[in-house]
Amino acid sequence: MRNDIERVLIDEAVIEKRLDAMAMEIARDFPEETLVVIILLKGALVFAADLLRRVPRVLEIECLNVASYHGGTESTGKVDFLDRHFPAVRGRQVLLLDDILDTGRTLHAVHERLRDEGAAAVRTGVLLAKDKTRAVDVTAEYVGFVVGDEFVVGYGLDYLGRYRNLPYVGVLKAAVIECPRTGQPDTAESVNL
Ligand code: IMP
Ligand code: MG
Repeated sequence: MRNDIERVLIDEAVIEKRLDAMAMEIARDFPEETLVVIILLKGALVFAADLLRRVPRVLEIECLNVASYHGGTESTGKVDFLDRHFPAVRGRQVLLLDDILDTGRTLHAVHERLRDEGAAAVRTGVLLAKDKTRAVDVTAEYVGFVVGDEFVVGYGLDYLGRYRNLPYVGVLKAAVIECPRTGQPDTAESVNL
C-alpha cells in the first residue's frame, strides 16, 4: 500500500496529538447534556473512532450513509441519503463528523436535514478541510487540519473504496489514479461513500 503513496501529508503522531486537542474543544463547547454524535460513513469512521475515545463526555453514536462521491476523485454535487431511518435528533445537541470538507455539499445537505428533523444545535467536526472556495455556504467548528486542494487518502479517506486503513493522510501517485488496482475503470457508476 505504501508503494502507492506519492507522499505523506500528515503522519499518525501528528494526527493523534491534534485529536487530543479537538476532543478537549468539543468537551468544552457542548452543554452538560448527553450529545448525539452522527458519523458519516464510511469516510469518518477512523477519525471518529479515534476522536470520540478522547472525548470525556456521555454521548450516543449514530451513523449515516450518505453518498456524495460517485467514483473517482471528483464530486458530482448530488447528495443521497441511503438509510431507511434517520436518527432521532429532535431537541438534541448534535456533533456531526465527516472526514473532509471539500465542496461542502455533503455537510450542507446533512446540516439542513438535521435542522429539518428538529436538532436543537449542530456543531460539525472534520479531520480535514480543503483550502478552497466551497460550492455552498458551510463551515466546521472543529477542523483537524487544512490541506491543499488535492486528492488525499488514508485515515478513513478512500480512493475507489481503498486506502482507508492507512494510518496517515497522504497523496496517491498519479499512476495509481490513472490505473487503479481494482482493475475497474474510474467511472461514475460505483457509489463511493
Ligand atoms: P464534499 O465535496 O465536501 O461534499 O465532500 C464529499 C465527500 O467527498 C467527503 O465526505 C469525502 O468522502 C469525499 N472526498 C472529498 N475530497 C476527498 C479527497 O481528497 N479524498 C477522498 N475523499 C474525498
Ligand atoms: Mg469517500
